[in-house]
Amino acid sequence: MSRALLPHIDRRSFIKLSAVASLTLLVGCGSDDSPTDNTTNQKLLPIPELLQPDIIGNVKHYNLTIKESKHQFFDEAKTDTYAINGTYLAPTIKVIDGDEVSINFKNSLNEATTMHGHGMHVPAKMDGTPHQVIEPDKSWSARYRVKQKAATNWYHPHFMGKTADHVYKGLAGFIVVEDEESRALDLPDRYGIDDIPLVLQDRRFVNSQFDYTPTMQEVMRGYIGDTFIVNGAIKPTFEAEAKEIRFRLLNGSNSTVYELGFSDNRSFNQIATDNALLESPVALNRVTLSPGERAEIVVDFSGDLGKSVDLYEYKNSKTFLQIDIKKQATATTSLPNKLTSLVKLNPLNSATSRTFTLSGRMGSFQINGKSMDIDRIDEVVPLNAIEIWEVKNSMMVDHNFHIHATHFMIIERNGNSAGVAANERGYKDTVYIKGGESVKFIVKMVDYTDTKIPYMYHCHFLEHEDRGMMGQFVVT
Ligand code: C2O
Ligand code: CU
Ligand code: CU
Repeated sequence: MSRALLPHIDRRSFIKLSAVASLTLLVGCGSDDSPTDNTTNQKLLPIPELLQPDIIGNVKHYNLTIKESKHQFFDEAKTDTYAINGTYLAPTIKVIDGDEVSINFKNSLNEATTMHGHGMHVPAKMDGTPHQVIEPDKSWSARYRVKQKAATNWYHPHFMGKTADHVYKGLAGFIVVEDEESRALDLPDRYGIDDIPLVLQDRRFVNSQFDYTPTMQEVMRGYIGDTFIVNGAIKPTFEAEAKEIRFRLLNGSNSTVYELGFSDNRSFNQIATDNALLESPVALNRVTLSPGERAEIVVDFSGDLGKSVDLYEYKNSKTFLQIDIKKQATATTSLPNKLTSLVKLNPLNSATSRTFTLSGRMGSFQINGKSMDIDRIDEVVPLNAIEIWEVKNSMMVDHNFHIHATHFMIIERNGNSAGVAANERGYKDTVYIKGGESVKFIVKMVDYTDTKIPYMYHCHFLEHEDRGMMGQFVVT
């Protein structure tokens, strides 16, 4: 079967042709004329544009405009959205450890927002938290030197009380970090060909428009959409080469936990957690991601030419993506056994323990009995101290816990080190904590003291975060 695969390239998305090897995949998330598969009338998977920086001096400048837009989820009507540069979601920013970057945001919305680099190891004043508000018509830059291991991170708004709303309308994009070590590994790394970012989300629509109206019960338990979307498309098709494919999975939903696998139950390898590659690949047939968490997986389609398989969400029984393995491999890769080595802090060397108890009722949420107050510093964390943080979920409903500034490593689940799964023994910044459960992790702040401007820790179920389940810490 041959089909016309050349999409119409939206001039406004400024895609630089040189950046991507294959024209067939040059589909901006949000080009107005997304290609359709004529045979099945299914959309091809949109791949977020890989944004090329302007290099000024030794600084890579990434220029982004946050704006209102309209996006084609449905043939019959467009949906009002918020977007960055395109019509839904945002371009991918790819950086290398050591790069000097300036990520420049112009806010063309009619309301204030912020833009946070989730997983980025940056000074507090560059973190894009509720303390770095971007007023309408104003600009703000996150200017820093990239100083961390290869990882799949992301950026999204973090405005007090409005994060859920702004993300729901479409504001989220990838920041892919590479380093010398990751670039030398024989991993799939051809963006849009065998290295595929997938933002997984769910939405409710009424008359083709987003319906974001959580009831009290939905605020408590999570606002789950009936329509599952990936990269801003409803059940699209990805035409894969018959080889290893790397998917960078991001749970970009407000409050839905995804249990992901393939429709034929095949196994795959997880190669990275939130903030770094795992030391070795971990073979799985399901990976669970709570909101904000990432997993990079490699799945081998070498023997599958001509077959189709779905990326499937087993908890809610939904298909995210149909994968048609219909192209010959144009390169080969072979998954290495050893990916990296991780620094493991020794709990015996920790001087400080902190406990964070998550609680809430009637649509308001607390950590250690307190709801978020932007004028209150909750914790003062000394630089270079090894600390154990224990997070207890005192409720029946699920939560998770995310920290800014750096990564952590989980050492116990429910008081038991054997409760930590092989695929969560890596650098994490967000950890899923089911109702009644607890998690212990080890963490050390290694840079960027600031006695005034805090970092955040919070539940990443956005309805909970916006209603108080967030606190602030300074590194001194
Ligand atoms: Cu993804 Cu504090 O956020
Ligand atoms: Cu974050
Ligand atoms: Cu929560």
